[in-house]
Amino acid sequence: MEPIGKSGTGKRVCVVGASGKLGRYMVRHALDRGYEVVGVCREKSTGKLADFAGLLTVIPGPTSDPAVIARAVRGCDAVLTVLVPWGMNHYATGTAQAVLDHAEPGARLVFSCGWHITRDGLDVYTRSFRLYAAVFGRLAKLARFVDIDDQVEACRRIFASSTQWTVVRGSDLEEGESQGLPVWSRHVGDPVLASNLTRRVDYAQFMVEAIGDRALIHEAPAIVGRLAPSAIAHARQHP
Ligand SMILES: NC(=O)c1ccc[n+]([C@@H]2O[C@H](COP(=O)([O-])OP(=O)(O)OC[C@H]3O[C@@H](n4cnc5c(N)ncnc54)[C@H](OP(=O)(O)O)[C@@H]3O)[C@@H](O)[C@H]2O)c1
Repeated sequence: MEPIGKSGTGKRVCVVGASGKLGRYMVRHALDRGYEVVGVCREKSTGKLADFAGLLTVIPGPTSDPAVIARAVRGCDAVLTVLVPWGMNHYATGTAQAVLDHAEPGARLVFSCGWHITRDGLDVYTRSFRLYAAVFGRLAKLARFVDIDDQVEACRRIFASSTQWTVVRGSDLEEGESQGLPVWSRHVGDPVLASNLTRRVDYAQFMVEAIGDRALIHEAPAIVGRLAPSAIAHARQHP
């Protein structure tokens, strides 16, 4: 663990799940903005942050461990959390609850998840999306490697909390050069989102930008790539 240094902006940001693909992009965006960054990841994954050696403070440990999170989020103005449904140990719920319980009062809390999470039940899913989610969710649970219900419960707790939360709901993701900040809408099924594809690097940018965007507090934006055909069509119709 490197000592925490002074950042140019004076803002300290914690990335929970920093070693994953989305997490590493978020670390990069946060560092580019001059934020002081603290990253939390499983002990065995710390090597995935080697590129950032000396640039961020790494707190190794399970992200669902309240003691690990309490230490990591101390003094942080914002916490960016990757919520994943992996495993059968309530990892997502434990992670979300630890962040909700231990983040500084008033800190911006930004969480990632997928379109399958609904806040108000007004999302409209295509038949193929529902079929995929149902079949994948059931098979994965049977195989005991993914528990979608755990991510659903994690988000239910976030939505019910009085913290300054935002839950960013990602579309399908792809790698590639940035296309700029994704566009968002309140409900899956809104035409602007129809292309269902976002570059992962841009998803990470949206998460980091959300820190300073007060309009996103207590919102669960569903995002899509800025250059996705549905986003371009929407921009033409609503110049
Ligand atoms: N993939 C998609 O197409 C997609 C679509 C929509 C939304 N999203 C959302 O985007 C976010 C990032 O997803 P991603 O697919 O791009 O993955 P990712 O960024 O690579 O992140 C995966 C994370 O899961 C952790 N992880 C892996 N196996 C685990 C296990 N058995 N127990 C606990 N943690 C484990 C990884 O930690 P280690 O580094 O320690 O392995 C890493 O932090 C998630 O919130 C996801 O819901 C993804």
